[in-house]
Amino acid sequence: MSELVLQHGCAKGGEPYVPQVCRVIDVRDQTHDVKTIRVQTPEGGLPFERKPGQLAMVSLPPYGECMFAIASQGPDYLEFVIKRVGFVTERLHELRPGDEVGVRGPYGNWFPFDSARGRNLVFVAGGIGMPPVRSFIEYALEHRADYGRIDIVYSASTYDDLVYKDDLFQNWPKEPDTHVHVSVYHATDGDGWSGKVGYTAPYLKEVFAEEGLATDNAAAVLCGGPSLYRTCREALLELGFDPADVVTTLEARMKCGVGKCGRCNVGGVFICLDGPVFTEAELARIPR
Ligand SMILES: Cc1cc2nc3c(=O)[nH]c(=O)nc-3n(C[C@H](O)[C@H](O)[C@H](O)COP(=O)(O)OP(=O)(O)OC[C@H]3O[C@@H](n4cnc5c(N)ncnc54)[C@H](O)[C@@H]3O)c2cc1C
Ligand code: FES
Repeated sequence: MSELVLQHGCAKGGEPYVPQVCRVIDVRDQTHDVKTIRVQTPEGGLPFERKPGQLAMVSLPPYGECMFAIASQGPDYLEFVIKRVGFVTERLHELRPGDEVGVRGPYGNWFPFDSARGRNLVFVAGGIGMPPVRSFIEYALEHRADYGRIDIVYSASTYDDLVYKDDLFQNWPKEPDTHVHVSVYHATDGDGWSGKVGYTAPYLKEVFAEEGLATDNAAAVLCGGPSLYRTCREALLELGFDPADVVTTLEARMKCGVGKCGRCNVGGVFICLDGPVFTEAELARIPR
């Protein structure tokens, strides 16, 4: 099995210093506090091409700008999944089709979709950790013959907090050898959820046991909040994954996105430039 290799570089058409004016073409509610927003240039095209896992800064003058994972790239649009948490995201949630936003990027490295060819893929995400992971899922499904079995283990606090429900429950399970495992942490009568209730890490171990999954010739892709990250990372290593076969995408406060402002660095490592995607083997070498 060849090593997972993380690649860096600028994708086609990217101009990382200058926001491009884009038009909002679609806004959808994902949950009570999460929206999907699609943007394209005024000419009807992509502001730039991204590779799965890369980031972009979305700006709304005079309020400010925020970094987001690029959850999806269509033929003529980029899609962001935006959780309303504060000042700027509150305003981004007010956007309607036809409104303008600034978009600059793409930033960071990308998931090792080339070197992972031929492997089984295990995606593990929690809550708003799904958008970055989804970009690799989308790529793997578009190039389905290049990868082995795909397992997606996804959890959120409640049924309402699950994002991309159409993909989870309708689209992805129809794809060949693609298995979707969803849990929520809390369920109440009448909230629409009758499936698994439980935390992600024990559920992940349960899925491996029940499905008889092996870790050889597999790559795991992980994204979630600090607690999910810590517990699922441990679970993946306990299940037998080599740290070089587990990739995770990190979040840190970001301002410039290009390694200049010093907001996102951990020691000498800049999450915006050296990441956001790291293997566990790389993270173990970063002094924290
Ligand atoms: C690499 C990266 C990828 C991201 N991808 C996504 C994504 O796909 N979807 C999404 O909804 N959000 C994503 N975020 C988080 C997003 O950038 C922040 O939620 C946003 O900047 C908050 O801006 P605000 O002005 O609305 O909130 P503020 O008013 O600035 O803050 C509101 C609250 O959120 C906290 N906060 C703000 N920024 C962050 C942060 N980066 N990490 C943790 N807490 C924060 C503040 O401390 C405060 O408690 C990502 C962040 C990074 C760095
Ligand atoms: S966001 Fe400025 S250095 Fe990374």
